[in-house]
Amino acid sequence: MIRLLALSLCASLAAAENGLAAWLRYAPLQGGEGYHSTLPSHIVALNTSSASPVYVAGQELQQGIQSIYGKQCNVHHSYYSASSSVVVGTLDEYTKAYGSLSTTPDLIEDGYWLSTEGNTVQILGKNERGALYGTFAYLSMLAQGNLTKVAYSSNPNAPVRWTNEWDNLDGSIERGFAGNSNWFANGVIVSNLTRTAEYARLLASIGINAVVVNNVNANASLLTPQNIEGLGRIADVMRPYGVQVGISLYFSSPTSGVKGQANLTTFDPLDESVVAWWTNVTGQIYQQVPDMAGYLVKANSEGQPGPLTYNRTLAQGANLFAKALQPHGGIVMFRAFVYNNLNESDWYADRANAQIQFFKPLDGEFDSNVIIQIKYGPIDFQVREPASPLFANIPKSNAAIELQVTQEYLGQQCHLVYLAPLWKTILDFDLRVDNESSLVRNVVSGQRFNHSLGGYAGVVNVGTNDTWIGSHMAMSNLYAYGRLAWDPTLDSQYILQEWIRLTFNADQSVVNTMTQISMESWPAYENYSGNLGEQTLTDILYTHFGPNPQTQDNTVWGQWTRADHTTIGMDRTVSNGTGFAGNYPPEIAAMYENIATTPDNLLLWFHHVNYTHLLHSGETVIQDFYDQHYAGAATAQTFATMWESLKGKIDDERYYDQLFRQVYQAGHSLVWRDAISNFYNNISGIPDAAHRVGKHPYRIEAESMQLDGYKPYTVIPFEAASNYTAIVTSSNTTTGTAQTMITCPSGTYDVAVNYFDQFGGDSHFVVSLNNVTIGEWTANLKPWIGSSQGPRVLGHTPSIYIDGHSATRITFSNVTVAKGDMLKIVGTPNGIEPAPLDYVSLLPLGIVD
Ligand code: GCU
Repeated sequence: MIRLLALSLCASLAAAENGLAAWLRYAPLQGGEGYHSTLPSHIVALNTSSASPVYVAGQELQQGIQSIYGKQCNVHHSYYSASSSVVVGTLDEYTKAYGSLSTTPDLIEDGYWLSTEGNTVQILGKNERGALYGTFAYLSMLAQGNLTKVAYSSNPNAPVRWTNEWDNLDGSIERGFAGNSNWFANGVIVSNLTRTAEYARLLASIGINAVVVNNVNANASLLTPQNIEGLGRIADVMRPYGVQVGISLYFSSPTSGVKGQANLTTFDPLDESVVAWWTNVTGQIYQQVPDMAGYLVKANSEGQPGPLTYNRTLAQGANLFAKALQPHGGIVMFRAFVYNNLNESDWYADRANAQIQFFKPLDGEFDSNVIIQIKYGPIDFQVREPASPLFANIPKSNAAIELQVTQEYLGQQCHLVYLAPLWKTILDFDLRVDNESSLVRNVVSGQRFNHSLGGYAGVVNVGTNDTWIGSHMAMSNLYAYGRLAWDPTLDSQYILQEWIRLTFNADQSVVNTMTQISMESWPAYENYSGNLGEQTLTDILYTHFGPNPQTQDNTVWGQWTRADHTTIGMDRTVSNGTGFAGNYPPEIAAMYENIATTPDNLLLWFHHVNYTHLLHSGETVIQDFYDQHYAGAATAQTFATMWESLKGKIDDERYYDQLFRQVYQAGHSLVWRDAISNFYNNISGIPDAAHRVGKHPYRIEAESMQLDGYKPYTVIPFEAASNYTAIVTSSNTTTGTAQTMITCPSGTYDVAVNYFDQFGGDSHFVVSLNNVTIGEWTANLKPWIGSSQGPRVLGHTPSIYIDGHSATRITFSNVTVAKGDMLKIVGTPNGIEPAPLDYVSLLPLGIVD
């Protein structure tokens, strides 16, 4: 099985650059032959079992050295003496075969020793997995052309470095933007697990040691005997890479009528029959998966069942599983993402307080193999949040941080957002527990409160798409997640550049350009989505993609902004608000309680202020809103242009695929900019001092054109369309025409057309000047649902409406336009999509609006 896998990977390396090989391309280095004498000639992998990570390490070394440098090495599986070799194995096996090292490296579980000094390269793991990690570290050096002499040991920051995958048994993936599941279809585990093995290989190369394969919104039928057998097969293909399997549990499974299991009348965690049920099922799982990592549990959250139904505590719920797992060595990741619906008219209600209310009183009551899995911020993966104060409030419990690699609230892989800098704001945050250094990363490593368990959970949601996650550039986030879970002190840019060199190449202009785009991407996205701590001002009631700020308020969901005509922001102070600031240890609480010491980027998270409130920057809140939204969108325009400078410097396949996304992002960032600016301009009535908001001299609104077969349409939410209005064909079978005479001076223009691309139809558009076509296109930026998608397909959650998710732009560059020309757009509807058009911009060169 391993041999077959190696062959298929070789094949994928030889194939086009579709992204499947990610950062493990082992791309040939120019002039690689020149280094043959410096490279090892023999590989010794100290394990004969082809299912062992050490054996796999030997194969990786052989494949990597051959592919990168063109040097063929033999692999031996026991002591072999050669003047030039690389030896990989556990420290123990090495010592047995070759004798002790002169100084014994200080290694913990999964750690490794790597020495390239001397004639023999030593890659020695504390365990087999560690040996494989060291191998990937060595191969990463080789692939980056780095043949320097090193000798160091490396240990992971924390024992738990898992991914969470929100795959459903039917094959769909919640918040996945890259096609369907690699391991589930039609309620069962698929037979072809080649991609699953390839994923494990990728994860091993960045130090990830377990995958929770099913959605936190779990399904009891995962526990049928057939699926348990399937879990065994998944575990078998991942095990050679040192990646264990974990599963999410549905709390009320005992009463769910799971086929092949007993059906109880209660799921009360203290009921003996329930305890026996879970003990039995857990035993069945360990029979198939002897090294199962453990369970992930979302209970009493967002409609999921849990122990509260029986008046039992969350700790009693968690310990039910902990006890079942304990004899097998498994752990429970119990999610802190628990909250209730709230009444917005209550000024003191606050969803951000929920975790503290639920978990703080239970500190000390969780079994030792339970880890509380805490989202980085108190709400839900927003573009900026303060660190969750729960990290400071459960010192007696094991804790892990939950990060989201899939960009649910951050552009859904259609906007480039490099997330490592965001994560670092949390990992490096000092909570000052007992007035002592208490960095979040030292809390989750277990170091701060002396726990041996703790770590990282990254919600990745890879799919069947060749790019794994939905876009080539978004894979930097998976890479960074693994690297940070191993060593959270690494610098975001350092990680990024490592990834660029491995995934693309080491050409300095490639590295510089991709670095600039990526490092500017999160600040840009924050600026045009929701700055000043306002969260991602997206549509929280439908998808979480485009702009729709009013959905935050007037709901029970508690993601409130409390914006009215004069004021905005959540008052989370102790003195006058929800009291949330007081959940932090005193030094931090004092900082957030006081408006003068709260950083501008979290101002509206903690305080309710007038739009005219002056920021530390000296600007008013409302003007800063306008300015940052314009600045963010302007930065996003430069990404597409910068990307164009990479033509010919990377392969065309990935170049064009990413260019397509950057162009899309440039257009959609304008949708964001205008929507948010218009919304707050409308609600506050305060004009933009720079006279940009609502003033678009280059635009021709579609509704102001001469219409035939088209009619005006009032868009909801209003701010998602320029001048609140679009046009749609008068029926789903009528072709519409919109035309107007050009009144601007003759010259060369970029012609930008803003339209809506709904799910459920592929309308066709033709733009002409004096009946000479200047461009035509079909509105088919396909969503991810139900397809495995090749390149050039966007991946965000679809919208069936004419709204901020479907709003998009196409631009035709360098068009010669004469005053008096007749501009005409013909729209042919399709399916439910009535060829919706918003406006046309005739942009003098260099202007984007
Ligand atoms: C978010 C997300 C849900 C998910 C939930 C969770 O709210 O939108 O899809 O189920 O987080 O983390 O449990």
